[in-house]
Amino acid sequence: MNTQMKAHLLSTTDLNREAALQILDTAEELARVSDMPIKKMPTLRGRTVVNLFFEDSTRTRISFEAAAKRLSADVINFSGKGSSVSKGESLKDTALTLAAMGADAVVIRHSMSGAPHRLAHADWMDAHVINAGDGTHEHPTQALLDAFTLRQHLSDHITDRAEGSTGLDGLHVAIVGDVLPNVHLLNTLGAKVTVVAPPTLMPLHTDNWPCEGSYSLDEVLPNVDAVMMLRVQHERMDGGFFPSTREYSQRYGLTVQRAATMPDHAIVMHPGPMNRGLEIESRVADSPRSVIVDQVRNGVSVRMAVLYLLLGGSESALGDGVA
Ligand code: CP
Repeated sequence: MNTQMKAHLLSTTDLNREAALQILDTAEELARVSDMPIKKMPTLRGRTVVNLFFEDSTRTRISFEAAAKRLSADVINFSGKGSSVSKGESLKDTALTLAAMGADAVVIRHSMSGAPHRLAHADWMDAHVINAGDGTHEHPTQALLDAFTLRQHLSDHITDRAEGSTGLDGLHVAIVGDVLPNVHLLNTLGAKVTVVAPPTLMPLHTDNWPCEGSYSLDEVLPNVDAVMMLRVQHERMDGGFFPSTREYSQRYGLTVQRAATMPDHAIVMHPGPMNRGLEIESRVADSPRSVIVDQVRNGVSVRMAVLYLLLGGSESALGDGVA
């Protein structure tokens, strides 16, 4: 396999169309492992993957662990809580410790934007670094699993079927909320993105972003192929970005009535964790339109693909494990 990924996965802006497609196509092949009675292939035997989580996570942490184990890597789970980080140990000393343990890849979640970049570019260790979410900045594997899920459910609805189509070309995706790392990847893959948010949450820099903006969810919904509801961050509620959760819910919450205005084929997504009853009504989250559980399932395949491509799994190993 001709691996085109960089040595690290830090940002979706690092991925061109070809590299992003390579990950999605590899994930599609690897998804077959998850359907087998024995969900295991030998590709990364002898390699060590460290999950370095300084912040809480359910989906990302568990799915990286499952992905690494399905590829037969050794997995070390490190949580900031309960470690020497709580005694004040620095990121550098933590990295040196991981290097001494022979980490081949480090999956890092951190509340500070740029922490994965610091880990990747400082001369502290010789491991591949994967950004598993750094504050509100980037979450590239989330963006990739979202793109994978869109392609899985909607590729039959695209009008642009030219050779080389990504399976997302021409799709219209609305992203509702204030954390927008998905915009760049969706644009790279040919989708049209509309960001929907109250004026106080609309990022100021969207002028330079490859997307449109709207303050009205009701106007946008009848014209979308998919809507991604993003979690309202609790600090936003406390920070006066909107008058009340009730008002946010009334204007921007995806209710059953609003979901009914979407085209029949349109899907509902949410990266989790959800605030049920705030940005999304429970009955919508659990409705046939919702692909939220598929997003979680696809996260394992996409993270397997990222580990496989970064750590240099061989073509024959892929064949051995999947064929
Ligand atoms: N979507 C997401 O990153 O979820 P977790 O915080 O549970 O990992």
